Parts: sequence; structure tokens; C-alpha cells
Amino acid sequence: MKRLTAIGTMLGVFMLGLLLVLPAGQAADMSKGKAIEMVLATVKAARTVYVKGVLADAKKGGIKGNEAWVKDDHGIMLPAQFVKEIGKEIRGFELGLLGTDPLYASNAAKSPKEKEMLAALAGGKKILTGEDGGKTIGMSADFAIVQGCADCHNKHPKTTKKDWKKGDFMGAIVVRMK
Ligand code: HEC
Repeated sequence: MKRLTAIGTMLGVFMLGLLLVLPAGQAADMSKGKAIEMVLATVKAARTVYVKGVLADAKKGGIKGNEAWVKDDHGIMLPAQFVKEIGKEIRGFELGLLGTDPLYASNAAKSPKEKEMLAALAGGKKILTGEDGGKTIGMSADFAIVQGCADCHNKHPKTTKKDWKKGDFMGAIVVRMK
């Protein structure tokens, strides 16, 4: 009888342990996905503020977005460069932009998993997270929200696609977290 009680107590402790450990594990997973979603939302918002608040206002004063902004006294960085510059300041995780038909190879999907996620976004998903060789990847779909996006990409010397139009799915903001 004593032995049964002991086994019962052990089982009870074990079950209690499971109850405590399982939700903690789930919470850890959830918080990583949640953290990535928050980063993506913040970067998107920062870019929108840059486009609507900085670029649009600067234009009135004769200052324009120019890819070669470093050498141009009357030029400031493009929205994509703004996102990449933020990425350069960040430690602990990576932030960047991906294109389905990127102007630069450095903006192409970096693994089969990233290609698969980009394809899922092209299929209509707005935001995705996934595991990729020890990293958690988050992507948020990027669309040509104004004609200007399409026009500039169509006429860029490096473009491989010249028929972008307003509303097209162009790629994603990407976050890679270890
Ligand atoms: C004045 C030109 C210009 C405009 C306007 C512009 N882009 Fe770009 N975009 C670029 C350049 C140049 C790059 C590459 C920057 C780099 O990687 O250094 C780029 C990069 C990107 C990328 C990464 C993939 C790639 O093509 O290399 C995406 C996605 C993108 N832009 C989407 C957009 C969207 C959406 C808009 C409108 C909200 C937009 N762009 C407006 C010039 C432009």
C-alpha cells in the first residue's frame, strides 16, 4: 500500500511537472513568433512614416529620393535603403528585403524554405513565420501600393522585369532570428 502511495505521489509530481513545463514551452514559442510579428509591424510602420512623412515633405523642398543619396547633396535614401540601413544598426537578428524579381541578388530568397515562404505570400498570405535551419524566419508581404513603386523598378538599370504595375506582389520584409 505504501509503495502504491509512493508511485501515486511520483506520478502526481510528474503530471504536475508536465503541466508546468508544457505551457511554458508553448509560451516560449509563441513569444518568438510574436516578437517577429512585432518587429515586422514596427519596420513597416517606420517605412510608411519615412515615405509619407519624410520623403513626401522633403520633395516639396527639392530634396528627392535617390539610390546614390550618399553622393547627392539633394538626395535622400529610398524606402528600401531605409529598411536596409535600419537592418545594419541591429544586432542579434537580421532584417532585410526580399524580392520575387529582385534588382540585386542580395535581395533574393536565401534558402529553399525562404523561397517556399515567399511563394506562400505570393499566394495570398500576408504574414508568415517558419523554422529554417535553426533560425526563425518572419516575412510580411510587400505590394506596389503606389504606381511609383512599379515605375521606378521597371526603369531601374538592373531590373529583369519591366511590367510591374500598381497592386503587384513584389516581395517581403524579412526578419531572421537565431
Ligand atoms: C526611386 C526608385 C524606387 C522606388 C520609388 C521604389 N523602389 Fe523598391 N527598390 C529600389 C531599389 C534601388 C532597390 C534596391 C535597394 C538595395 O537593395 O540597395 C529596391 C528594393 C526593393 C525591394 C527588394 C527586392 C529588390 O527588388 O531588390 C522590394 C520588395 C521593393 N523595393 C519594393 C518596393 C515597393 C513596394 C515600393 C513602393 C512602396 C518601392 N519598392 C519603391 C528602387 C525603388
